[in-house]
Amino acid sequence: MKLQDAIEKRRSIRKFSDKKVSWDMVLEAIDAANQAPFAGNINNLQFIIVSDQENKNQLAKSSQQTWIADAPYIVVVCAETKKLENHYDKLGIKYSKQQAGAAIENFLLKITDMKLASCWIGAFSEEQIKSTLKIPEKYDVEAILPIGKEKGKIKAPRKHNLETSIHWDKWGVQKKPIIFKDPSTSGS
Ligand SMILES: Cc1cc2nc3c(=O)[nH]c(=O)nc-3n(C[C@H](O)[C@H](O)[C@H](O)COP(=O)(O)O)c2cc1C
Repeated sequence: MKLQDAIEKRRSIRKFSDKKVSWDMVLEAIDAANQAPFAGNINNLQFIIVSDQENKNQLAKSSQQTWIADAPYIVVVCAETKKLENHYDKLGIKYSKQQAGAAIENFLLKITDMKLASCWIGAFSEEQIKSTLKIPEKYDVEAILPIGKEKGKIKAPRKHNLETSIHWDKWGVQKKPIIFKDPSTSGS
C-alpha cells in the first residue's frame, strides 16, 4: 500500500471479526513502531503481546472498553520514562510521551498497510494493567492497541479542513490552502 493510502485509510476500528491474525504481522507492526524517531536515539519502549483470553478480558475491564477483548491480540506499549529523564532532565518526560506517540502512529500505519484493524486506547487504569501483566514499576503504560480484522463495513476515510489548522508566517494569518503547491510560488 502507498504511504498516502495508509495515512488516509487508517481509522480507529472497534469491531473485530473472529478471523485469525498471524503473530508475525504483529511483530511487523512492532518493528515499524521501533523505526520511529527517538530523542538521542534512545528507544525506551517495550511491547507486550497479549493473546491469552483471560488477560485480554482483564485489559478490557481495566479500560472499561469490553470490545477490545474480541481482538485476537492486544499490544501494550510501555515506556521507561526515567531513561529519557536521565538524559534530558524535565524535557525527558515530554520526549518520552512524544516518541511513544510517534512509534504508535508508525504501528497503526503498518497495521493499516497489512489490512488489519486497530485503535489507539489511552483510557485505562494503568495500575490495574501493570498488575495484570506484571509490568515493572519503572515503566509507564502509554497505550493499548487491540489488533484484529475489521468486522462489517470498512470505515471511510475522514476529511480534514486544512484551513482551520494552518497559519502562514504568523499565528492567525490564514489563506486558502492550495494543497501540494509551494506557497512561495503559488502567488496567493
Ligand atoms: C491519545 C489517544 C487516546 C485515545 N484513547 C481512546 C480510547 O481510550 N478509546 C477509544 O475507543 N479510542 C481512543 N482513541 C482513538 C480516538 O477516539 C480516534 O483516533 C478519534 O476519534 C479519530 O478517529 P480515527 O482514529 O478513526 O481517525 C484515542 C486516540 C488517541 C490519540
